[in-house]
Amino acid sequence: MKKVNQYIDSLFHNSDPLLEEVLASIQENGMPSISVSPSSGKLLTMLVSISKAKSVLEIGALGGYSGICLARGFGETGQLTSLELEEKYAKVAHQNLSNAGFGDQVTYITGPALQSLEQLEKENKRFDFFFIDADKENYENYLTYCLKVAEPDAVVVMDNVLAGGTVLDTDTQPKRYTAFMREFNEMVANHPQLESLLIPIGDGLTVARVKK
Ligand SMILES: C[S@@+](CC[C@H](N)C(=O)[O-])C[C@H]1O[C@@H](n2cnc3c(N)ncnc32)[C@H](O)[C@@H]1O
Repeated sequence: MKKVNQYIDSLFHNSDPLLEEVLASIQENGMPSISVSPSSGKLLTMLVSISKAKSVLEIGALGGYSGICLARGFGETGQLTSLELEEKYAKVAHQNLSNAGFGDQVTYITGPALQSLEQLEKENKRFDFFFIDADKENYENYLTYCLKVAEPDAVVVMDNVLAGGTVLDTDTQPKRYTAFMREFNEMVANHPQLESLLIPIGDGLTVARVKK
């Protein structure tokens, strides 16, 4: 899988100084290096752009790498709402989105994402694109909330669904969330409200369309 990803990155990923600065800022601030892979980021931009989404909800901001990729997809006319547990991370992300020219198009809501989602639902907010990339144990809860606030035909993208390949490889030492991710993938694949497919780039991205 690593070799396949290296091959894809070598062909399709162009140098991107702005995103490299984001990665440097994440290191400088002592934050973990767990942003999406360059190809996953490119796919996010393409999916937002192709779906013509204008109201995007991200769960898990970190330093704003995926946020910039999502915002690039809607350009000057969309809005990003990003849910992040850590106040400090949201500040770094906001600074990076501002450097990328999207500072006025993003709103960060800090605190546990489940609480923020409950509030967004109460406020009758609606979104046409979702990117789920926070604590894996809550993926099913996040998906349930996303479906409640989704416009018809909305797109939901979920990261890390291969759990470093451990969901399929029983010889490899499992991760903390391997068993959970196996169950989650099965649930998504059979979900009556979703048409979905797992794309094996980065750590695995599932792309789903909401049928409603
Ligand atoms: C994998 S990182 C996100 C990476 C980011 N999407 C990117 O690619 O640039 C996961 C993020 O989720 C946040 N997080 C973890 N648990 C959370 C929770 N319960 N509510 C909101 N955010 C959470 C972490 O603080 C971390 O910043």
